[in-house]
Amino acid sequence: MSKDTLSIRDNRTEKEYEIPIWEDTIRAMDLRQIKVKDGDFGMMSYDPAFLNTANTKSTVTLVDGGNGILQYRGYPIADLAENASFLEVAYLILFGELPKAGELAKWEAEIKTQMALPEALPNIMKAFPKDAHPMGAFVSNTAALGTLYPDAREVLDEELRWKHIKNLVAKSASLGAYFYRHSQGLGFVDPDEKLSYAGNFLRMMFHEGGGDYTPDPAVERAINILFILHADHEQNCGTTTMRTIGSSQADPYSAAAGAAAALYGPLHGGANEAVLRMLAEIEDVSNIPAFMDSVRSGDKRLMGFGHRVYKNYDPRAKIIKKVAEDVFKVTGRNPLLDIALELEQIALSEDYFIERKLYPNVDFYSGIIYQALGIPVSMFTVMFAIPRMVGWLAQWTEMLGDNEQKIARPRQVFLGPVDKKFVPIEER
Ligand code: CMC
Repeated sequence: MSKDTLSIRDNRTEKEYEIPIWEDTIRAMDLRQIKVKDGDFGMMSYDPAFLNTANTKSTVTLVDGGNGILQYRGYPIADLAENASFLEVAYLILFGELPKAGELAKWEAEIKTQMALPEALPNIMKAFPKDAHPMGAFVSNTAALGTLYPDAREVLDEELRWKHIKNLVAKSASLGAYFYRHSQGLGFVDPDEKLSYAGNFLRMMFHEGGGDYTPDPAVERAINILFILHADHEQNCGTTTMRTIGSSQADPYSAAAGAAAALYGPLHGGANEAVLRMLAEIEDVSNIPAFMDSVRSGDKRLMGFGHRVYKNYDPRAKIIKKVAEDVFKVTGRNPLLDIALELEQIALSEDYFIERKLYPNVDFYSGIIYQALGIPVSMFTVMFAIPRMVGWLAQWTEMLGDNEQKIARPRQVFLGPVDKKFVPIEER
């Protein structure tokens, strides 16, 4: 008769153990009973970089990497990108279901009325050099924003938790856009409640002043879709950082600043910037063969390719490729697209990439769109961080409501020396 258990035989002791299986998973703590002798610590699992460790249960986002599937709360990403607004999707991710019309209107009003930054923030931003990296500034300004709300530290108070979730979702776009204005030596532009979240972001970035700002509908739609595609992606490096910092009951601004710092790196959200720098370095299609030689030899990575979870085409990359065409109708074609398309074609047909299941990821085409919209390369990761704020917060509040979670504190396998005798400095 089949049983949902795993039998383990420890050949050191010849003892057998039966461990329950739940959702194709065993609990690492069930291994602890496996000991050679009483008083031993017991067995652990060793998993650098969490290649095969689930650190939470979650109901937010499904990524089925083998089949190239991404769903938020059960809804396929392509349907959401095609039909919903970013704030509608933010509501879905945060509250678990798509809003009814009245719920959406209330939610939109709550967010849009909170988009303007308190006065302290522009002043803090002005203290940064204009050429400071916008992600460094985003990390700092997110943490700085938290200092204005002492009650944000009361993370176990659910009502206060939601107050700050809304505040962070609302101000995430403003934190990015205001700093852009500073970096360009331009005055700050306040949001306008009549515009959508994406439209407001464009206004705060690009409005030249004088009267209302009306975003180009194709550009607004593109930003809306890009924000939806980046809103959550389950337990990636940034989100895991959010949960880890949040597990110590730090306030959500500090935790989100930490998550943004994790996102900043070129192997994570920083890849969209790295892709553009790579395409600019290749410069011309004729230089692709030499570049690909350096990738095959392991000297370089093809940025925007590969993913820890997707071993198939990233569904977000497919949607973004299509959005790029729509944007280029308005902005004119970005010449780097030809290099990107050629790189993709070569990579998808070469053994090196096929064997390693390397496909374009979300970052491969997004930067080409941002550049065509006039967004500087150094801002690209901020474009990822702004909508990802929603996912970080959904995962953070899910973690705080999960009574199995405790402060994150992994173990180590200690291989260093022990009990060395202290040697006075003159004798070393
Ligand atoms: N170009 C060339 N070779 C690659 C690439 C790449 N982009 N990515 C992985 N490989 C090779 C790697 O060298 C290794 O080969 P071998 O088995 O011969 O040593 C094999 O593929 C497995 O790679 P890995 O580094 O063990 O895979 P990982 O799961 O640790 O890394 C990754 C995932 C995304 C960090 C990696 O694919 C990468 O560095 N990609 C480029 C950066 C990038 O585009 N990052 C954005 C990810 S999507 C947005 C996000 O969620 O943050």
